[in-house]
Amino acid sequence: MTIALGVLGCGTVGQGTVLLAHRRAEKIQHLTGFRPYVKRILVRDLEKTRSPEIDRSKLTNQAYDILDDPEIQVIVETIGGIEPARTYILEALRRGKHVVTANKDLIALYGTEILKVANDVGVEVLYEAAVGGAIPLVGPLQENLTANEVTDLKGIINGTTNFILTQMSETGAEFADALAEAQALGYAEADPSSDIDGLDAARKLTILASIAFHARVELADVQVEGIRHITARDVQYARELGCVVKLLASGTDRNGRLSLRVRPTLIPLAHPLAHVSNSYNALFVRGDAAGDLMFFGRGAGSMPTASAVVGDIISLLRNIRLGVAGSPENRLYLQKRVVPDEM
Ligand code: NDP
Ligand code: HSE
Repeated sequence: MTIALGVLGCGTVGQGTVLLAHRRAEKIQHLTGFRPYVKRILVRDLEKTRSPEIDRSKLTNQAYDILDDPEIQVIVETIGGIEPARTYILEALRRGKHVVTANKDLIALYGTEILKVANDVGVEVLYEAAVGGAIPLVGPLQENLTANEVTDLKGIINGTTNFILTQMSETGAEFADALAEAQALGYAEADPSSDIDGLDAARKLTILASIAFHARVELADVQVEGIRHITARDVQYARELGCVVKLLASGTDRNGRLSLRVRPTLIPLAHPLAHVSNSYNALFVRGDAAGDLMFFGRGAGSMPTASAVVGDIISLLRNIRLGVAGSPENRLYLQKRVVPDEM
């Protein structure tokens, strides 16, 4: 049986998703009973040059060609930012369509609203790709580790800043040149100040902490400092001290009092996080039963992120097949907010 997907956005993540879903269609059919096919793709600019593998006849610049199509049951949102992505997702949910998104800005700021609408309608919203690119983080925290009380999250969860700091440290590159390269590689946000000012990492930490600590964490609860002021000289001094500079995100839960921070941090070269370089991300998770875990992998880029998006599509199709799409664990976001610790 086929199932029609509507993909909103065909940039770094959207294009990777369309290509990977197409390549894996047979495997997905084998795993889920559904063969996905991308029926329409929303873009802003119909004339833009795209991969020759993208079927241009599927492109539209009218969102409601997709949202109003009753055959399309699954919307994959890869536009990014708040509007119009928020409106399109809410409209899709109200029409009974399931949503897979890579949009951490939206989930961090409007996750509660979006997941509540999804729960009310009885459809599913999946967002593994919003945090850590290819690395499974949302799934393990939401499912595999729920037997634990998670007390600590610590890691590198922004690929662009990690790429910039790695280039500055290893090749002596200037900040601006390294940022331009990260943009050319598709790692950076449309407005890269989100990356370099630490906001992207803060949004991801908001999502991870909400799930891991079973608390309604808000962006304002995260103390944020970016890397805009880090100079080649700072990076060089760090090296002389036997350290590297990393943009570290950390969250702790001490008996319900949360402390959440994103800031440039000196990491000794002997520490495993010192060797997480370029666009790679890594996250340490401490659970009272599991002990320490470390997740590591590509945190940004087209195919790494498409891997997470298509993984969510497969989970969703499996749930549709089993008749359980619209999972109750999304309600985690609706739980009472915990008072943050003193900053
Ligand atoms: P891009 O800027 O590469 O792509 C955005 C796409 O959305 C483009 O195809 C663009 O159209 C389309 N678009 C933008 N605005 C509109 C609009 N108003 N109406 C219709 N279409 C629109 O972004 P990315 O692919 O890099 O990022 C997408 C999302 O994925 C973001 O939420 C981002 O945070 C997230 N993400 C990105 C990762 C990465 O490595 N890049 C990794 C993990 C998550 P057009 O092509 O015509 O310009
Ligand atoms: N801009 C983000 C980063 C993309 O650099 O990590 C992946 O979420």
